[in-house]
Amino acid sequence: MLTLYAPAKINWFLEVTGKRPDGYHELVTVMQAISLYDRLDFKTRSEPGLALTCNIDLGPPEKNLVYRAGELLRARYAPDRGASVHLEKKVPHGAGLGGGSSDAAAAVVGLNKLWGLKLENRVLENLVSEVGSDCAFFVQGGVALCTGRGEIIEHKAPIPRVHLVILYPNIVLPTVDVYRDLSRHLTYQPRNCYFFHGEGARNSAKTLPRVIFNRLEESALRVSPELREVWQKTSAEAGVTCRFVSGSGSSIAFVMEDGPAAQTLARTLEDRGLGRAFAVTTVTVGVSEHQDAGDRSIRGTNQAG
Ligand code: C5P
Repeated sequence: MLTLYAPAKINWFLEVTGKRPDGYHELVTVMQAISLYDRLDFKTRSEPGLALTCNIDLGPPEKNLVYRAGELLRARYAPDRGASVHLEKKVPHGAGLGGGSSDAAAAVVGLNKLWGLKLENRVLENLVSEVGSDCAFFVQGGVALCTGRGEIIEHKAPIPRVHLVILYPNIVLPTVDVYRDLSRHLTYQPRNCYFFHGEGARNSAKTLPRVIFNRLEESALRVSPELREVWQKTSAEAGVTCRFVSGSGSSIAFVMEDGPAAQTLARTLEDRGLGRAFAVTTVTVGVSEHQDAGDRSIRGTNQAG
């Protein structure tokens, strides 16, 4: 048996620089892995194929990214092999945290190991980007500059650990709806990414407010009036350096001055009934056999959705 932890991500920077002929958007984004994890348990089985179970209802397994990524790996490299995979979901769905994408990356990393295929990370990244634009990042995680659809990855040196609160306001925001809204407003001058420039390479809670930007934020707030309401209610929280919508939403990420402030804010947001809140930190890994100690879900709930 093999256990892997699949981290969530936030986007420190996300600019959409154009629309492609294939319908996707061209991105420049800085992805960052954080200490909020799903868990996947892998076991070999003698029958060929994958059997997927989960702690929550996933709907048809064939539609799940773990199943699709795993079956893609099997079809290309190990058609005779079989495995059962159990997925323990904790990263909320439709949250802009990349939970499903990270699970898909964990599937190819896990099955590669379980079946002794010895495929290199590059091969796994290319393979898994076929099932979703931001899946490849999670193979190695940490912090990276991602371009193209999000699948062209340049890994960067980790920044000093940052404390964050992730608020999931119990709103599922389909990525496709947010991009559709943005498509109607593609009239801006794209911003440059200064995240890795000069002082930025040593970004901290102090410098982050100057480099954080998310082009999808306005669209996410426009698509979901409920999210805008939560956004407005959380504009002046104690201990917060800056805040932003993560990826296409619906999560709001708060950059915190320190760990205790993060713990306090997460508890306060949950007590006010604004959603589920997680006090987390940045992590320097991707899919891994170990969980960084920074993960502190306030209510200890293990259920997604
Ligand atoms: O690639 P993935 O399936 O994760 O993307 C989900 C949806 O998000 C796509 O169908 C597309 O509408 C939108 N998207 C996009 N440009 C990207 C990534 C995603 O338009 N670079």
